[in-house]
Amino acid sequence: MAELSVKHLLGIKYLNENDIQLIFETADHFKEVINRSIKKVPSLRDITIANIFFENSTRTKLSFELAEKRLSADVINFSAAQSSVKKGETLIDTVNNILSMKVDMVVMRHPNPGAGIFLSKHVKASIVNAGDGAHEHPTQALLDSYSIREKLGDVAGKNVVIVGDILHSRVALSNIFALKLQGANVKVCGPKTLLPKHIESLGVTVETDLRKALNWCDVANMLRIQNERLDISYFPTTREYTQQFGVNKKLLNSLDKEIVIMHPGPINRGVEITSDVADSKQSIILNQVENGVAIRMAVIYLLASKIK
Ligand code: CP
Repeated sequence: MAELSVKHLLGIKYLNENDIQLIFETADHFKEVINRSIKKVPSLRDITIANIFFENSTRTKLSFELAEKRLSADVINFSAAQSSVKKGETLIDTVNNILSMKVDMVVMRHPNPGAGIFLSKHVKASIVNAGDGAHEHPTQALLDSYSIREKLGDVAGKNVVIVGDILHSRVALSNIFALKLQGANVKVCGPKTLLPKHIESLGVTVETDLRKALNWCDVANMLRIQNERLDISYFPTTREYTQQFGVNKKLLNSLDKEIVIMHPGPINRGVEITSDVADSKQSIILNQVENGVAIRMAVIYLLASKIK
């Protein structure tokens, strides 16, 4: 059986092109499974997975839990807000206590970049990064590319623009790694203050004019401003940000071609995207969420096969 080259999913940076293709082919199978009347397979009946979330989440947390349950794994959930982390317990102690209950895999979201990498070096379990600060969100990038592949047939050769707060976005970095690995052309667009210096060294181009970027692309991935990570003001007002970098129906209709609109969620309606765009037929936002379950089933299944 084909295997992933990694024992943990810590970031797209650590994957190769074959890993991504294997995850997509496995997800194709699981997508068919979750659309059956019986949406469950017994594959991981002997595996226990802990979802430990130190930061808020709706989509990722529910999607991982559903993916694990669809694979028949035993699942425990941990939320830092209601835990002994508040009493001063360290991350390694917290996780080792969870692992001593015979847990095989840990899915973790953490506000600190590199938290998953750190954990993978100190505990005996397979670690899946569900978002670490402004660093990486690998399963989001995988489901985003998978959704482009589903909509446009392939990722290679497609023009994809990522719009918004690139500086603080783990979704942007993971998407850049994933899209480049698959041969897409990637552009980033946003206020200069929210574009990291030397971002071109990742093989992307920069555009600060949204209309030009949208006229170039096949797919626009709209990001929200990561307000929880903003220590200072990066643009004058939200209204001005929306005027320059928000996508609305009038702008979309005035383009030379029909483009695909994506958003990882949560959406700030009326800021980076208007409701009539988010809910339009050009938007694949809810397809991304649906595909997230199949992608996470594939990732967990493939990693679990390496710990058996
Ligand atoms: N896309 C994403 O990571 O959403 P959540 O923060 O709700 O998990």
